[in-house]
Amino acid sequence: MKFTPSLLRNLIQLIANELAQNTEEVAALDQAIGDGDHMVNLQRGINGLLAESAGITQLDWAAAFKKIGMTLMTAMGGASGSLYGTLFIAMSKATKQSELTLPDFAEIFSEGVQAVKQRGKAEAGEKTMLDVLIPVAESLRTSASSNIKLTEVLNDVSRVAIAGMESTRDMVATKGRASFLEERSRGHIDPGARTCQLIICVIVNKLAAQLPA
Ligand SMILES: Nc1ncnc2c1ncn2[C@@H]1O[C@H](COP(=O)(O)OP(=O)(O)O)[C@@H](O)[C@H]1O
Ligand SMILES: [Mg+2]
Repeated sequence: MKFTPSLLRNLIQLIANELAQNTEEVAALDQAIGDGDHMVNLQRGINGLLAESAGITQLDWAAAFKKIGMTLMTAMGGASGSLYGTLFIAMSKATKQSELTLPDFAEIFSEGVQAVKQRGKAEAGEKTMLDVLIPVAESLRTSASSNIKLTEVLNDVSRVAIAGMESTRDMVATKGRASFLEERSRGHIDPGARTCQLIICVIVNKLAAQLPA
């Protein structure tokens, strides 16, 4: 199965809808351990993408990822804006194909996550969005090298994204604003991990719904 950028317009709209439905929860998470603006930043980013989405679907994958990354980098703001911008720009650099298979995407996404780690100077276990991104990248790579069905691949991605998000609750933050709270950051889910999981689950659900039964 191969995927083309025509998918993106619909996905961007679905992500915008999902974020709109979770505004208060995420604002409360960032008020607890950050400065409360995470959802506002994300909504600026997604509004930027909505404005560009018709054009984005006309591009090839490398150009589409680049346009998404540049739009997020300029529209979003916050630590998360530059990290999501970095994710997509690095994915763009790693993309050579016009149509993506699962192994292609697993490789490209892993390159993107690697760039986020470098940009944020962060690893797994520091209570950030990387606690979702890293296990998702690992799950995709494992799936790509095995022979499991795409439905199962997507189920696995959802499962590890949710587990990664939940794992941040008991962590002490060592990166980002939440790290200023030290031990008091424990007991709250990281807002960036929650939104990253919400976005990934929307994408997965949409792709799963499009698969032949
Ligand atoms: N160094 C980092 N590496 C990875 N993710 C980070 C880092 N610093 C912060 N984050 C993520 O960014 C989220 C906060 O985003 P946001 O509120 O938009 O930015 P800011 O912290 O500048 O207010 C955090 O919840 C965390 O998931
Ligand atoms: Mg914030």
